[in-house]
Amino acid sequence: MAGAPHVRRMSDSGDLGDFTDYVGDGDDDASAGDGGDDAGDEADPETEFERYGTEPAGADRGLGTVSVSQGLRVSQDGDETRLRAFITTGNRDSVRLGSYLLVPYPDDETLFCSIAALEYAQEFQSDDATEIHARRQMRREEFEERDYKFMAELEPVAVIYEEGGELKRRMTDRVPKPGALAREAADEEQIKTGLKIPGDGVFLGHLSVGGEKVRTAAEPPTVDYRVKDEYADGDPLVFRHTLVAGGTGSGKTHASKNVLRQYLDAERTYPMDDGREVSPAVVQFDPQDEYAQMHDDNPGMSEEFARKLDREGIAHGGHDDTIALVPVEDGVSYGGENHRAEQVRFTIPFSVVDEYDMPWLVAGGGLNDNQYPALLTLLDRFFGDYGSDGTYQEFLTYLDNPGLKEELDESGRVHEATFDAVKRRVRGIPNGIFDQDARPITELDHVLVRPGGLTVVPTYHLSTSRAKEMFVLAVSSLLVDDKLSNSPQSQRIKETPLVLGMDEAHNFLSEADTVQARKVVQKFTEAAKQGRKERLGLFLITQDPQDIAEPVFKQVNTKVVLNLGDEDAISSVNIPSELAQKVPYMEKGQMVVYSPDNSEPVELIGLSECVTRHGG
Ligand SMILES: Nc1ncnc2c1ncn2[C@@H]1O[C@H](COP(=O)(O)OP(=O)(O)O)[C@@H](O)[C@H]1O
Ligand SMILES: [Mg+2]
Repeated sequence: MAGAPHVRRMSDSGDLGDFTDYVGDGDDDASAGDGGDDAGDEADPETEFERYGTEPAGADRGLGTVSVSQGLRVSQDGDETRLRAFITTGNRDSVRLGSYLLVPYPDDETLFCSIAALEYAQEFQSDDATEIHARRQMRREEFEERDYKFMAELEPVAVIYEEGGELKRRMTDRVPKPGALAREAADEEQIKTGLKIPGDGVFLGHLSVGGEKVRTAAEPPTVDYRVKDEYADGDPLVFRHTLVAGGTGSGKTHASKNVLRQYLDAERTYPMDDGREVSPAVVQFDPQDEYAQMHDDNPGMSEEFARKLDREGIAHGGHDDTIALVPVEDGVSYGGENHRAEQVRFTIPFSVVDEYDMPWLVAGGGLNDNQYPALLTLLDRFFGDYGSDGTYQEFLTYLDNPGLKEELDESGRVHEATFDAVKRRVRGIPNGIFDQDARPITELDHVLVRPGGLTVVPTYHLSTSRAKEMFVLAVSSLLVDDKLSNSPQSQRIKETPLVLGMDEAHNFLSEADTVQARKVVQKFTEAAKQGRKERLGLFLITQDPQDIAEPVFKQVNTKVVLNLGDEDAISSVNIPSELAQKVPYMEKGQMVVYSPDNSEPVELIGLSECVTRHGG
């Protein structure tokens, strides 16, 4: 880290960016454990030492010392905590906000903290806003560090200590001694303990501070961030749901493919209630025709990068068991040239409206609260007369019957005007969706959901946003319904752990004031609440997190936020302010993660390569 020579403040480049060109020879890491000698800056340390005649002789360790001059206290009320370290001149240029520091207590315990603020303070009582001072300063070549104090305000994260040969953490409950040495945390186990990062789980990225990976003395020198994936660890957090938010081009899809691929790792299974260990199925709704490429290898990945991934236990490579489950709309065809996954075409039978209780699907977003009960009455009559395999065309014809309208009006069940309004709505949905020439989705549950398999539902080729919405809502609701139901239509769906991924989720789970939106949000909220029990994880991806309905949003436990420019969007993701403030400045692949049941809030850098094909 900062002052130590083994830290290279260079931006990652090329293939091995994620792992750095760490040279495991003793030289580099010799000083890492104790923070290195403070002269080890990129600036020429020798000459700096000479200039600062006030430096005591002998090698210094650490970055500086805890100072009491402006108060030293830890408090239950974080605002009242006052913990500051004086940073010695040689270290000043290298310390960064957010860096992780260790401050030892006189016994074996250590305070793990992060730098919350950095400031220059005056060394002597003098006024530097004077003519004399300014003129003197203007004649000088360089700023005189030693004229000033450089203080780091530390935010305690946890006390770490050893017990039974194991590192543990607890809430900060003691204050360090004045003069205690502050040094950069450079030991992987200490960092992971301090930040409560699980040792095992699903890989998300490498820990970073200010866009630079945190380095340790270990091999690899990076700190991997993982999300808990075991019931023994307090739940696989995948079933407590994930949000990936970021502006267009921020790297959402790249990052999402990298995470979803981990769930498809051959070794990953989850216990079901009946004791079976089952691999999860991933079903991904794909508005840009990008995810079926997960079937294919990333042609740009070097062997060396792949070996590094192996060494870090990160799954990679095209996933053979990938199917593009292609929605069939009349008059529209699917290209699918950018991937080699198998394609299976499907249609939505009108019967799902009855079987899966989705009356809203035939009315689009337009129905109001008066019209909805009328629609229910009409559908009920229709399926009663035609059986559950009645088609959409038959329903339209059915509604054309003047006798029916009259009867319902006279019996006071459906007012004439309401009848006409409902009919208009039902006619208003895209015409070529239901009952097309392909296998009905209801008969394809074993294709849709396969343990260890990825199913991608592409919607880019469909003609209208209404058509896209209908397919996504029909298929996702069917999945959710069977997951929640005590008498599911498909045992396969019920009994397979499922990760339901939705890109551009704001288009489908928005808080619009329509019956459809309300029903969908209700269903997904319920599903989200039952996720842990039913092994259903929502994986929502969006550039407009503010448009995702609040009740669903509230169920999301793990938030991964990439670069977002929009202020409303940033505030809507509702992450701690120290993370939120970084969001507009983050570069491609940089992310902050807020997963309170997993770890302290952290900043990460995702893999620079996609572990499967992405683009090109
Ligand atoms: N961590 C990263 N390192 C390098 N390139 C990345 C990274 N993340 C994304 N990219 C690249 O940036 C481009 C946009 O990323 P993408 O994930 O498609 O953006 P989004 O889905 O947010 O619009 C892609 O070419 C992608 O490969
Ligand atoms: Mg994308």
